[in-house]
Amino acid sequence: MPSEQRLPVGSPQPHSSLPPRPSRTDPYLERYAARARGMVASEIRALFAVAARPEVVSLAGGMPYIPALPLDAVGEMAGQLVADRGAVALQYGSGQGDPGLREGICDVMSLEGIRAHPDEIVVTVGSQQALDLLTRIFVDPGDVVLAEGPSYVGALGTFASYEANVVHVPMDDHGLIPEALAETIGRLAAAGRQPKFLYTCPSFHNPAGVTLDQPRRAAVLDVCQRAGLPVIEDNPYGLLGFDGEPSRALRADDPDGVIYLGTFSKTIAPGLRVGWALAPAGVRDKLVLAAESAVLCHSSLAQLMVREYLASQPWREQVKVFRELYRERRDTMLDALHAAMPAGCRWTSPGGGFYVWLGLPPGIDAKAMLPRAIAGRVAYVPGTGFYAGQGGRDHLRLSYCFPEPSRIREGVRRLAEVITAEVDLWSTFGSPAQAESGAPAQAEFGSPAQAEFGSPAQAEFSAPAQADSVQ
Ligand SMILES: Cc1ncc(COP(=O)(O)O)c(C=O)c1O
Repeated sequence: MPSEQRLPVGSPQPHSSLPPRPSRTDPYLERYAARARGMVASEIRALFAVAARPEVVSLAGGMPYIPALPLDAVGEMAGQLVADRGAVALQYGSGQGDPGLREGICDVMSLEGIRAHPDEIVVTVGSQQALDLLTRIFVDPGDVVLAEGPSYVGALGTFASYEANVVHVPMDDHGLIPEALAETIGRLAAAGRQPKFLYTCPSFHNPAGVTLDQPRRAAVLDVCQRAGLPVIEDNPYGLLGFDGEPSRALRADDPDGVIYLGTFSKTIAPGLRVGWALAPAGVRDKLVLAAESAVLCHSSLAQLMVREYLASQPWREQVKVFRELYRERRDTMLDALHAAMPAGCRWTSPGGGFYVWLGLPPGIDAKAMLPRAIAGRVAYVPGTGFYAGQGGRDHLRLSYCFPEPSRIREGVRRLAEVITAEVDLWSTFGSPAQAESGAPAQAEFGSPAQAEFGSPAQAEFSAPAQADSVQ
């Protein structure tokens, strides 16, 4: 028993006759709503504070490289905006978002084949808020949602906070596997369960780095249409492809069945916190009401800045600048991985976006290895953060978006040393991962449907942004 006794706020002082309560670090613990149980901080959070030290090369965070923006021009534009239109820019706005910005968003989405009207768009605080609002309006506690395995950690955190049951659907190098999706839906139906929606990140997936190819896009839509299953298409990286034209969005071919989420976080800057949802009318109306109850309205200043940026700055050229920068960093990381990684490692080759998904040699556990990696001055995100349930121990996510190429090379070199030492160690003494499972590590993308009907999703990093934020 800990020695300190704490009483809840407002309780009589200790000399009263009330029996002493058990000590807790958080005196509010018993008052939280049931849904707060899904909001758990990771035990490796503390390690990320250490990973933020300059001597550690962090390949963990998914932060865009903001120094590549023309900051002087953006600053001048912002100053002018406040001087000219401050009375609007610093005032409350509408819950649906600025109409001029919504027109600009339609132009951006047209690059991915989407034809939309500004009325169909709801502006949100990043696409993260769109995910939150959608989950709020669709999901009751215990409802099933489908998501790729692995899946974006921020989505898993949101699903957990609304007490959803996440059922993962496997992917391969070409993205979500349509046959596996159909099989999962069928299995759930046989058990009397109908998922509320499929959540998918089809282009330059976070964390897997893969892209759903065109034939599969049609097949996934077909499976979902047959099952009457709405799709949430989360597409922050779609314009950041390194080769050719952007993929055609799922939403472009199914305006009624797909709710599309976009953001300016990766093509302009995440600090603006401007994203959006494009949704059929009924969903759009609910989203506006939910947004108003959450935030009244979004920042008028941020919205007008984006609107002005789209109207007055060469934003298409700037997206090309980002693409070239990230392509160089992707190449650097892939070259470094080829040069340094020991046998048994395998990794994806992203055609865009920010992430490489690295599979470890059999028996090596990415989460258990992390303290040793940080001691070796390199940080990554263990794959477990991207699964609701137990998957992902044999994988880790590497980001190449933020570090300079020389740091990427050094970080991969250090990581290769750590993995090699781990392999040597476990080949001498045996691996706890093997001992626990009695089986070799999983195939490329981990095992399917682990969270099936189990407890609510437990995302590794379900709490909001950290020092070296793991998006
Ligand atoms: C797949 C995915 N969805 C959504 C987001 C949230 O982005 P934001 O809220 O900044 O728009 C991110 C951020 O990294 C992401 O990777």
